[in-house]
Amino acid sequence: MQLGVCYYPEHWNPNRWAIDAQQMRSIGLEIVRIAEFSWQKIEPVEGNYQWDWLDTAIETLSAAGLKLILGTPTATPPPWLCQQYPEILPVDALGHTRHYGSRRHYCPNSPAYHQHSQRIVQALAERYGHDSRVIGWQIDNEFGDHDTARCYCQHCTHAYQAWLKTRYGTLETLNEAWGAVFWSQSYTDWAQIRLPNLTVVNPNPSAVLDYYRFASDSVVNYQKLQLDLLRQLAPSHFVTTNLLGSYHDLDYHKLAQGLDFVSWDSYPTGYTETHGHRLYPPGERPQFAFDVGDPYVIGFCHALTYGLLRRPFWIMEQQIGNVNWTDYNTGVRPGTPRLWSWHAAGHGADVVVFFRWRACLFAQEQYHSGVLNHAAEPALGWDEILSLQAEQAELKQFTAQPPTAKVALLLDYENLWAIQLQPHRKEFTYLRHLFVWYCALQALAIPVEIVAHRADFSQFQCVIAPTLHINDDGLAERLQAFAAQGGQVVVGIRSGFKTESNRVTDAPLPGVYRTLLGSKVQAWSSLPPQVQCALESASPAAAGLHIAEPAGQWVESLHSETSQVLLTYASGLYSGKAALTCQAHGSGNAYTFGWYPSVGQARTFLAWLAERHAMPRLVEALPYGVFATQRGAQTLLLNFLDTPQDVEVGGRRHSLAARDVKVV
Ligand code: GAL
Ligand code: ZN
Repeated sequence: MQLGVCYYPEHWNPNRWAIDAQQMRSIGLEIVRIAEFSWQKIEPVEGNYQWDWLDTAIETLSAAGLKLILGTPTATPPPWLCQQYPEILPVDALGHTRHYGSRRHYCPNSPAYHQHSQRIVQALAERYGHDSRVIGWQIDNEFGDHDTARCYCQHCTHAYQAWLKTRYGTLETLNEAWGAVFWSQSYTDWAQIRLPNLTVVNPNPSAVLDYYRFASDSVVNYQKLQLDLLRQLAPSHFVTTNLLGSYHDLDYHKLAQGLDFVSWDSYPTGYTETHGHRLYPPGERPQFAFDVGDPYVIGFCHALTYGLLRRPFWIMEQQIGNVNWTDYNTGVRPGTPRLWSWHAAGHGADVVVFFRWRACLFAQEQYHSGVLNHAAEPALGWDEILSLQAEQAELKQFTAQPPTAKVALLLDYENLWAIQLQPHRKEFTYLRHLFVWYCALQALAIPVEIVAHRADFSQFQCVIAPTLHINDDGLAERLQAFAAQGGQVVVGIRSGFKTESNRVTDAPLPGVYRTLLGSKVQAWSSLPPQVQCALESASPAAAGLHIAEPAGQWVESLHSETSQVLLTYASGLYSGKAALTCQAHGSGNAYTFGWYPSVGQARTFLAWLAERHAMPRLVEALPYGVFATQRGAQTLLLNFLDTPQDVEVGGRRHSLAARDVKVV
C-alpha cells in the first residue's frame, strides 16, 4: 500500500518546500497531491499564467523522490473570474446567489464557467500532461460538497428544459409522464417549466426526480469536459476524482464512469458526527469511543466506493488528527489513523493519502490538524505513518489481492431519490434500509460489495436488494437468471411500486418483480413507533429460522402465488398473512421480505441463509466491535474497541490488542 499526503506549497514560504519534501520522504511517504485550490496563483490575471512557483514546487517535491498528483483547481474560481463573469455563480434553492469567498461557488451549467474551466485545465495539462514527475490528476474537489450538486440559476433552468426535451420529445409525453394534470399543472410551452424550487407546497415528485437526474448529469458532464481534455493531453497519467462516501445528491455510478479509479475522502470522526444520522435512525448509533469514528459507517462508505467501479480505490484524504468542521472536532488517540488505514485497505483501498501535511496558519481551516502541527513539529500523524511503514511488507502483501465478496447489496441513486421524495414514513430512507443489511453482514463477517443494478452478478452467491422501488424489467430478468443459476436473491419492501417517471405502476405489486418473487403484495402499511407485529414460522422449509423480535416500521401483506410461505404475521393488521416467502428458480431462490428488518432480524435471516447455502463467513463468532474483511485468501481482523479481544478463526485463537489489527 502506498502512502501519500496533501500539500499546499502556496501556503508556505518556498524555502520550506525542500525541508517539507525531505521530511515526507523521511517517514516513507511516496505520493503528494497538490494544486487543487491554486487557480489564482496559477492565473492571477485572465490569460496570464504564472508557472514558476508550480514548476519549482513540482521540481522540489519530485527531487526528494515524491510522485505528484495534480488537482484541477476548478473548485475555487478566483475573485477576478467571478467579478468579470458573475453569471458563473450558483443560485441556491431559495433563489439566492452563492457568492465567492469560500469555495465551490460555480454553476456546473454555466457556459462561461465551462469555457474558463476548459482553459485552465488545458493550460495545466499542456504544461504537465507529459511530465513523468506527475502520475495522475484529481478532477476538481469533492463535487457536490457544501450542498452544491443542485443549482437553481437561469442557465440551469434552460439546460433543464433542453434536457427534458431530449428525454420526452413532446410536452404531451412529459405531461403524461409527470401526471401534470394533477393540480392543473400541464405545460403548453417548454419555457413554462421551472426548476422545482420555491413552490408553495411540495412540487410534483416526477418533476423533482427528473431535476435530480438532470442536476447529477450536469455535474457528470462538467467532469467529462475536464476528463476528455486530460485524456487527450495527459494520456499516460491516471485520472480520478475525490468522492464523499455515502453522499447521494450525485449519481456516483455515472460520475465514476471513465475514471481510472475512484477515491474518497475519509474522515472517520467527522463523518460519524455529521453523516452518521444519514445511516442510523435518530438516536440509534452504536457506542464506539468518541475518537475512533463508527466502523460501520466508514466501512459502508468504503464498500460503496469500491463497488462504484468494482475495483480498488484510493483514499485521497485520510483524517490524521482532529478535523475542524463538526460540533466537537475531538482529538484522536495514537493507533487510530493506523487502524483507519488498515480498515480502508481491508475494503479495497490501495493507496492512502493523508490530509494534510502541516496545519495551516491562516484562513478557514486553521484548526484542522496535519501530520505536522502549526509549528512544524511532528504531530500524532507522524508516528502513525511510521508505524504503517514498519508494516509495509505485510500491507503490500495484503493489498496485492482484490477483495472477494460473495454477497452483493444493490444500490441505485434514482431509487434512492424516489424514496427520498416520498418517504411516506418519517425516518424511512433508502440508505438506512441498505445500511441495515450492511451492518448485519458485517456482524456476521460476510464480506459484501455494494454494486449498481447493472452490475454483473456472476461472481456472487447472493444478491440483496432492500428496495427495488422503480420497476426495471431488465433487472427482474437478470435477477431471475441469477437465481436460476443457483443464486440467492433477497428483495425487500416497497419494490415494484414506481414507474421510471416516478408515478405509481398500475400493475399489481410488486410490479415487474412479481414472477421473480412468486408473491403479490396485497396491502402495505407504515407503522407508528412502538406498534409491532409478531412473526411466526409457517412451514418446515423455515426450520431453523427463528425471528423472535416482532416486525415494525413498515409491513406488507404478501400473498404467495407460486412461492412458499416461510414466515407469517402472528399479530397486528396482517395477522395470518405471509411476511416472508421463497420462490425457487432452478437451483436458486428469490426471497421476499415483507417488512423493514432490524439489524438483528436481518442478521438472523442471513445467518440461516448462509448456513443453508454454504455462504462463507470469515469468522464464526465475531465479538462486538471487531470487524473482519478479506482480500484474496487473507482475512483482516480489526478491533475498534479499547479493550483487547480474542477472535477464533478456523479453530485458531487470535488476540487483538485495543485498536489493533491482525492479518490471518
Ligand atoms: C475535505 C476537503 C479538503 C479539506 C478537508 C478538511 O472535505 O476536500 O479540502 O477541506 O475536508 O477536513
Ligand atoms: Zn446553475
